Amino acid sequence: MQSRPITEPAPAKVNLTLHVTGRRADGYHLLDSLVVFADIGDRVTVRPGVSHLRITGPMSAGVPEGPENLVLRAAALIGAEADITLDKHLPAAAGIGGGSSDAAACLRALARLTGARLPDDVASLGADVPVCLLARAARMRGIGEEVTPLARLPVLHAVLVNPRIAVSTPAIFKRLVRRDNPPMPARLPGWHTAENLIHWLATQRNDLEEPAIAEAPVIANVLQELLATAGCAIARMSGSGATCFGLYPDAQAAQQTADALRRDHPDWWVMPTRLS
Ligand code: C5P
Repeated sequence: MQSRPITEPAPAKVNLTLHVTGRRADGYHLLDSLVVFADIGDRVTVRPGVSHLRITGPMSAGVPEGPENLVLRAAALIGAEADITLDKHLPAAAGIGGGSSDAAACLRALARLTGARLPDDVASLGADVPVCLLARAARMRGIGEEVTPLARLPVLHAVLVNPRIAVSTPAIFKRLVRRDNPPMPARLPGWHTAENLIHWLATQRNDLEEPAIAEAPVIANVLQELLATAGCAIARMSGSGATCFGLYPDAQAAQQTADALRRDHPDWWVMPTRLS
């Protein structure tokens, strides 16, 4: 057991693509998704001590501190006792893996603190936890439990926008009308530049956008606003929403977009970031 506190980052996860490819008998949907991570996120700190969770940070309001919090469920799964601080910077129920990334960061931190082995069944905490445990670019299949790391992707400059509405993932899946959309190719192409990658991404999609817009029409406004910004190559929703991302040629264009959107929509959560 380490005696000093250990902090692990819990970066935002972004689904660059999200294709729904089928449905299991238990109702869970089969997915095929290209997932990357942002350079912004939450932070989880663990210290030796009795089990306790404290939540700090600008996005802490309304996040439960009880046993239903995924961080405490993760601690129970790994079987470790610790005093845990969760520093929240990401909006909750936002399609960017906040809770899943927190749970994954907590598992990593507790494994370092106590020397415990990472459990095999982390997907039982949530479909996005396995990819968040890896915390680097990956293709995610099955219901989320099949994670294939990808060779380093070109860095993408993005702006994340959440209109500050929480969206319920089961509600979005319930509204999904399955179509015979083309799947992602079995072998993904290699991308040598951000331009190549963006060009390819434009041929792909997020199948949950349509049901999410039906549930929360403001998502369509977010996408429109992003598309209208200078240099925006693609605007797409992440996960089951409501956070959307726009992709830009460089960090300066992303920063200028973020400044303009914050001016026009002071009530939205707007963050320029690098994805990789
Ligand atoms: O596992 P997670 O907590 O992210 O899933 C929340 C809900 O979203 C599930 O209970 C299920 O209704 C739906 N879901 C799904 N197929 C997935 C992931 C989630 O239908 N692959």
